[in-house]
Amino acid sequence: MDIFRIEGPVRLSGSVSINGSKNASLPIMAAAILGEGKSSLAPVPRLSDISVFSQLLEQLGCRVVKSSDRRLSIDSTVIDNPVGEYEIVRKMRASICILGPLLARCRRAEVSMPGGCAIGDRPINLHLRGLRELGARIHLKNGYIVAQAPNGLTGKEIFLGGPFGSTVLGTANVLMAATLAKGRTTIESAACEPEIVNLAHGLQNMGAKISGIGSPRLVVEGVKQLHPAEFEIIPDRIEAGTFMAAAAITQGELRLQNCRLDHMMAVVDKLRNIGVTIEPEDNDCMVARTGPIRPADITTQQYPGFPTDLQAQLMALLSLAEGNSVIVEKVFPDRFMHVAELNRMAANLRKEGPAVIVAGVKKLTAAPVMASDLRASAALVLAGLAAEGTTTVNRVYHIDRGYERIEEKLNPLGAKITRESI
Ligand code: EPZ
Repeated sequence: MDIFRIEGPVRLSGSVSINGSKNASLPIMAAAILGEGKSSLAPVPRLSDISVFSQLLEQLGCRVVKSSDRRLSIDSTVIDNPVGEYEIVRKMRASICILGPLLARCRRAEVSMPGGCAIGDRPINLHLRGLRELGARIHLKNGYIVAQAPNGLTGKEIFLGGPFGSTVLGTANVLMAATLAKGRTTIESAACEPEIVNLAHGLQNMGAKISGIGSPRLVVEGVKQLHPAEFEIIPDRIEAGTFMAAAAITQGELRLQNCRLDHMMAVVDKLRNIGVTIEPEDNDCMVARTGPIRPADITTQQYPGFPTDLQAQLMALLSLAEGNSVIVEKVFPDRFMHVAELNRMAANLRKEGPAVIVAGVKKLTAAPVMASDLRASAALVLAGLAAEGTTTVNRVYHIDRGYERIEEKLNPLGAKITRESI
């Protein structure tokens, strides 16, 4: 079990390259199931979630090969075991997005039902509703979702909106299944995230017929067969946002290389309100803070609104603002495991239902803290960079799921982070 020891406060400066997106790579890895043969995707980040998903695909019968140039090739010629085992699915909820492609390709699938999650209640009822609408028979057996469509799937008009709006992986699952269904499928209230757009363009490369990409209404004309393809993975907008917050919380100056600002307008707008300068330069952007951190109110929403995956990082930043901010979490109302840990570092945060009142303090002080999930742990690392003293972050495995050796990216910029195994 690794921990981080983080010396603070530091000031970050220099250039850092943004990786390919984790949340774009995972559903695209599942899409490889749809086209019999060798597909490949790049640039893929080196993350534990990518390794777990590779194991999952190999368990189905695929052959997954990682090459040095961040390319992943997936040979799905043989899928002889359409079963997503508990031992793998329990490590990563995104495994659920093999369900749609397996149903479409093999007309049957068994996938372990994803369990609990630190960020709150995460049902998959919308995934199952969408696949049932396409004609699949689905039941739960011993913790496994058993799905069958012996005569194949059939296109349908499907409303996929839920109590918290659209679902990202639910849209991915139903979209992938619809590509091989008979006739036309219309997905209403589809997710519009850049990761879904990346997936849909990839499916078009495989021969799928999809229109309305990037809008809440996707229309799919089913085809008989798809073929393997090459997928280009978009930059990781959440990693980019995390480094923007790192520059801001350390009053630093960073050049983010390979950063798509057009995928991050809500984030850029908020950070500029807070007092951060963000200037595009070709595929890069310059991020700096020279003046005080101004308070700001944030409400997380589906894309193009403010992403829930940056809520914790902005909370760490706003904990040092000159004034009070209110953060409302509308996507995962219970996603606040980082609040108590930041308060241990002398932040002044008060939870009120799905909101947190952030009363800005002059400084944070170091403390031993516990990571609970991927983005909460990123917030604790940011707080450690600004806090006075040595912060110890426990359960670093959470951060390794979504950030590639983050200390090896931050230390050349001026951070003082050591990773230790205990
Ligand atoms: C994706 O999860 C991301 N994961 C999450 O990022 C991200 O937080 C989330 O989208 C929202 O942007 C990946 O892409 C691998 P949802 P997903 O289905 O698809 C409710 C990270 O940090 N809902 O869009 O699982 C759900 O409970 C991770 O990288 C239902 O009610 O999220 C939530 O309140 C964490 N029924 C809301 O919808 C369903 O069937 C949005 O969830 C599905 C979802």
